[in-house]
Amino acid sequence: MRRKSSSLVILLLSLLVVLPVVSAQSKPVDAEGHQWWQHAVFQEIYPRSYMDSNNDGIGDLNGIALKMEYLKWLGVDAIWIAPCFPSPQVDFGYDVSDYENIDPMYGTLDDFTAMEKKGKANGIGIVFDFVVNHTSDKHKWFIESESSKTNPYRNWYIWRNGKGPNQPPNNWLSTFGGSAWQFDGKTNQYYYHFFYPQQPDLNWRNPKVASAMYDSTRFWYKRGVVGFRLDAVDTLFEDPNLTDNPILPGKNAYGDPKIEDKYTHKLPEVHDVMKGLRKAANQYNAVLIGETWTDNVSELKDYYGTNHDELQMPMDLMFTKLKPLSAEVFRKHVGAVDSSGEWPVYVMSNHDIVRAYTRFADGKHDDDIAKVLAGMYLTLRGTAIMYYGEEIGMKNNDPTRKEDVKDPIGQLGWPEQKGRDGERTPMQWNDTPNAGFTQGIPWLPVPMTYETHNVASEQKDPNSILNFYKNLLALRHTNQALLDGDYIALNQDDANVYSYLRRYKGQAVLVVLNMSENPQNVSFNLSKQGFSTGEAKTLLSTINGGATQKLSGMSLPSYTVYIGEVTK
Ligand code: GLC
Ligand code: CA
Repeated sequence: MRRKSSSLVILLLSLLVVLPVVSAQSKPVDAEGHQWWQHAVFQEIYPRSYMDSNNDGIGDLNGIALKMEYLKWLGVDAIWIAPCFPSPQVDFGYDVSDYENIDPMYGTLDDFTAMEKKGKANGIGIVFDFVVNHTSDKHKWFIESESSKTNPYRNWYIWRNGKGPNQPPNNWLSTFGGSAWQFDGKTNQYYYHFFYPQQPDLNWRNPKVASAMYDSTRFWYKRGVVGFRLDAVDTLFEDPNLTDNPILPGKNAYGDPKIEDKYTHKLPEVHDVMKGLRKAANQYNAVLIGETWTDNVSELKDYYGTNHDELQMPMDLMFTKLKPLSAEVFRKHVGAVDSSGEWPVYVMSNHDIVRAYTRFADGKHDDDIAKVLAGMYLTLRGTAIMYYGEEIGMKNNDPTRKEDVKDPIGQLGWPEQKGRDGERTPMQWNDTPNAGFTQGIPWLPVPMTYETHNVASEQKDPNSILNFYKNLLALRHTNQALLDGDYIALNQDDANVYSYLRRYKGQAVLVVLNMSENPQNVSFNLSKQGFSTGEAKTLLSTINGGATQKLSGMSLPSYTVYIGEVTK
């Protein structure tokens, strides 16, 4: 008897693993037909640097599992984990040698499952990072491919003859320095790599590549992954005629001529792959986030697909380039993105970009500025993707000596290009040595600011950046106007204060952000928008005011946030 019931349990459990689970997440979550990911707050986690459970100095999946309660407390709904698949780690995991396993330094498939379960129990979904453009040169497909010109995998990568002795097929450059073509003496041909030579580009014109890659996404969906962040999608295709890219004046950090990536970027075929990946995602109600480096809003719009059959969440990475912190700069960009009709996806920073805290710091109001940034991008219409540590005001810790650099591009481009180590340092959990990240030697040094900017200390301080984020995310999750409301820019001529309404039916939230170092005085007349009491009920604010706020003659100290509910 007992045996029978346990085998029944095993059968049921394995069915759960194998069947595409149609979860409640597929159903709209509100009257607007929004999906779960439109109301979710995402956070990117760089697994090497989040939490080290076995004290080898490198973060791991068990470490992430230990922090699920924290993420829930903060108000995060889904985490995008940068690649943790088997990898030689030349590009710290973005050189994948097996798409369907976990690198031993991060754990095992069982550890993944335990982490996924712990996440689910805390309401946190796992988004994995899918490196679609290239594999590692140690992936079995590439090892086959390079072995001979007639190997069945030859055509899985992009092999071409040189133009002549010691002459690559054309002038295409790697974004990580030097020619994008690597010579292979064994077969006397070159292979194409847009990133490091250890990251050969896959040949997406080969249908076998496409179907193998789509299958790998299913492998993870079946194991509970709720979506993917798709790496480097702009560069999936190259011109089959190998037309030279136009040369621009000047040199880049690697000493190469600047070129326009005309024949290697955003070829129309990219959209076919997005559709293919989306089809697989749809079977599992999964979400696709794109690393989409677009030049304008129209290109960004293209990534959603003309029939909304591509990416649900192409990241607005133009947002990460906006500067300086100014009402005009942000108002203009947000206005353009918001009016495109799509669901915006705002990002301030990630593992390739200097932390927002550092980018906007003025040395005097750094923590206040961090709150202004949060008060802005977490109240806009759309989904936000945070970067780990942003919520405690982590700042970049760039290497000061070439010999300390871990990221190969920092070695290659030093000192102009210092690499990306600075934005990838260990999460600061408390004020003990190594910020509580590890008992071992951390793979990157912890910045000294860990003594003041860490989770444990900030949790105790009601005015900390962390508690501001926590309160803001709680508000964002419960306030109907912030969840569903449209975006209406206010006082559009104000060069210092960026303000807008999020309005949903008869309800509205007013967001006022003083983006200047000087105190400002502002007034709002919202009768045109249907709110005529001239008052707001304060929801969250960094100015010292009461529970109600008059909308005329509001005085705002430098770098402040006011969020209030306006009344009819
Ligand atoms: C993406 C990743 C970056 C990586 C590159 C190559 O840009 O975000 O970290 O180096 O792709 O995979
Ligand atoms: Ca570890």
